[in-house]
Amino acid sequence: MTTIDPTSNGSAISDPLSVPPFAVISGGQVSGVLRGQEKEIVELVEATYRLHGAGDSVNPPSYFLRFPDRPSSRIIALPASIGGDVGVDGLKWVSSFPENVAAGIPRASAVLILNDHDTGYPFACLEASIISAARTAGSAALAADWLSRGRPRPTRVGFVGVGLIARYIHTFLAETGWSFDEIGVHDLSAGSANGFRGYLEQSGTAGRITVHDGAEELIRSSDLVVFATVAAQPHVHDVSWLAHNPVVLHVSLRDLAPQILLASTNVVDDVDHCLKANTSPHLAEQLTGNRDFLLGTLDEVMAGRVSVPAGRPVIFSPFGLGVLDLAVGKYVYDKVVASGGLHVIDDFFHELRRHG
Ligand SMILES: NC(=O)c1ccc[n+]([C@@H]2O[C@H](COP(=O)([O-])OP(=O)(O)OC[C@H]3O[C@@H](n4cnc5c(N)ncnc54)[C@H](O)[C@@H]3O)[C@@H](O)[C@H]2O)c1
Repeated sequence: MTTIDPTSNGSAISDPLSVPPFAVISGGQVSGVLRGQEKEIVELVEATYRLHGAGDSVNPPSYFLRFPDRPSSRIIALPASIGGDVGVDGLKWVSSFPENVAAGIPRASAVLILNDHDTGYPFACLEASIISAARTAGSAALAADWLSRGRPRPTRVGFVGVGLIARYIHTFLAETGWSFDEIGVHDLSAGSANGFRGYLEQSGTAGRITVHDGAEELIRSSDLVVFATVAAQPHVHDVSWLAHNPVVLHVSLRDLAPQILLASTNVVDDVDHCLKANTSPHLAEQLTGNRDFLLGTLDEVMAGRVSVPAGRPVIFSPFGLGVLDLAVGKYVYDKVVASGGLHVIDDFFHELRRHG
């Protein structure tokens, strides 16, 4: 931590370094902080994308841990460092075990570690499945807003794949001013579709809810399409399904055949991140041998450095950046500290004298 000595000419002096206390923040505390803060989170995501775009972050590639005996599962490490007012380093460690869902427990589970800027010491471990869902939904709502400018604002939304992420995205859209006349729902699992319909009904939406048997009818009848499936490879191939030029939030990244991307305007969160791990943009790059099909990043759209043409579908494929988890995690941490509810683990760092 750096302070200004009031007796000097404004020169900076440094406090002696000290080991920070280590705290654990539960999912209940995270949820308590984030509920009702959707607008603030979207603004925080926007500010973080701008910071990342300006180069005031370090966000190396995510590391995918996969298992020969459990091919559908993975655990991903997302290390990152963020500058600006946030000034924190850290790591999200997030598991995806799709078979959990059949057993009645969520697919994803995660922790976020925050590291102190000056000493490197980890100072907090936060439950992060909610942080992850919130930053993903915040990014989707931000993209829906920016990418639908210059075309009629969508009033018909369709969700393909309706688990936890779809629920968060709907909540973030609703809480940031979107209202829909029509809400389409499609999921391979009737149980998921019914559960999501139940959530929508309880949310008090005025929109007419239709559960579709397939993706085609849903896509054709929606101006805003959200993909939040766990599809490992493309299952939407027919370019004509998007002939009405919808805005597509391709959050699950692997639903669309490369031909669909090549016939659309493509926006990503970070080019190098997104063109990896057999995402649809990665498949499009492999097919064409170049990146010409990309318009740019959402940050470039927001800064006005690129503009989204009307008259084509526009697809947002966000890889999901560790800097977003850090920004939202630090926001939660600061709120918990301010509320006096921080649970510190006494004696967590114990071996602190170098020679005993
Ligand atoms: N890009 C990002 O930043 C980001 C962040 C978080 C999650 N995600 C992705 O979002 C997706 C959804 O996450 P979740 O936690 O809601 O998962 P979930 O398992 O709770 O729900 C996924 C749903 O998709 C359905 N589904 C699978 N294949 C389908 C298909 N071909 N057509 C229709 N429905 C299909 C499943 O039946 C299930 O109900 C995952 O792929 C996850 O990796 C992306």
